[in-house]
Amino acid sequence: MLNTQQKQALIEQAIKARDVAYAPYSHYHVGAALLAANGEVFIGCNVENAAFPATICAERTAVVKAVSAGQQDFVAIAIATVDGGSPCGICRQVLNEFAPTLHVIITNDEGEIVLESSLDQLLPYGFGPSHLKTEK
Ligand code: THU
Repeated sequence: MLNTQQKQALIEQAIKARDVAYAPYSHYHVGAALLAANGEVFIGCNVENAAFPATICAERTAVVKAVSAGQQDFVAIAIATVDGGSPCGICRQVLNEFAPTLHVIITNDEGEIVLESSLDQLLPYGFGPSHLKTEK
């Protein structure tokens, strides 16, 4: 479990990541900071596209960056939005692939924690690698 300082540090990185969001269509800026078990933090922002379905969410940007850097073991994610909006279903599913009990911290514009939960509460009865009975 993260202590208050670690949590605060992760939240600050999510807020920073939100500053570089590319969201000219929705204007809904999202930042995420994903903490790996080795202490590394991978940040991500949402990156929208004129072809709307090509948009990638902040949480998935962070996961893709981490996995591309060789990290697949995650402890927590902080997510920053204006109003404390929670991760979409696709992001919950992608996070579930690697960390079904990931600690999720959601903050608003004031940096207040709006929700703190674990991924298995946000995605109960999730479908994961074990259902396919193959090695990852
Ligand atoms: N968005 C995220 O980055 N994460 C979520 O989990 C929810 C939605 C982004 C996608 C899009 O750029 C904008 O928020 C509005 O949907």
